[in-house]
Amino acid sequence: MAKQVVVQPGDVTQRVGVEVIRARGVDVEKLIRMLVANAAAEFASTYYYYTILRMNLAGHEDYKEICEDARLEDRAHWELIVPRIYELGGNLPNDLKEFHDLAGCRAAKLPDPPTAVNILTLLLESERCAIRSWSAVCDMTFGKDPRTYDLAARILNEEIEHEAWFIELLAHERDGKSVPSGHFRRGEPGWAPYSKNRGFYNP
Ligand SMILES: [Fe+2]
Ligand SMILES: [Fe+2]
Repeated sequence: MAKQVVVQPGDVTQRVGVEVIRARGVDVEKLIRMLVANAAAEFASTYYYYTILRMNLAGHEDYKEICEDARLEDRAHWELIVPRIYELGGNLPNDLKEFHDLAGCRAAKLPDPPTAVNILTLLLESERCAIRSWSAVCDMTFGKDPRTYDLAARILNEEIEHEAWFIELLAHERDGKSVPSGHFRRGEPGWAPYSKNRGFYNP
């Protein structure tokens, strides 16, 4: 276990909040890189592209509504995790293209042709990528960095629900099968029951 650095009174160059998790074995630099990649996936490759995908679900108002919940919750995930990157001493790249290219999940670009089946398939795989990425953050921080773990676990809760939603919709649309997600649409669009810091970072 790494020896804990004693941060001197008034020292603004080091953070006790970082040193305590480093002492417990967290590779803080690697964690910051993972969080930046996940933030890029939430904002650039998901929230942005889901906006385009939702537009193209025209005529499927029920699918559109579920896509809207997933889209707005990805925005909530972005808002939830970005402050943590800075708390850990990291930052976002000062260039949107560079940031986009760091994303840990493939861009959910509009498929050709933009049929409901193709769009739902893309949405499903995008949620699966998110589940893998947030699970990796949970694994890395479990029992060592309770704050990052808590934020990542809250996001993971919603990603798992999103996967279930798109399995249900794709099974219905593509195969005519009933594979229930176990839940219904949110009470209000993008409710984000686990991940939203109400009144802080979200309208
Ligand atoms: Fe997300
Ligand atoms: Fe999601």
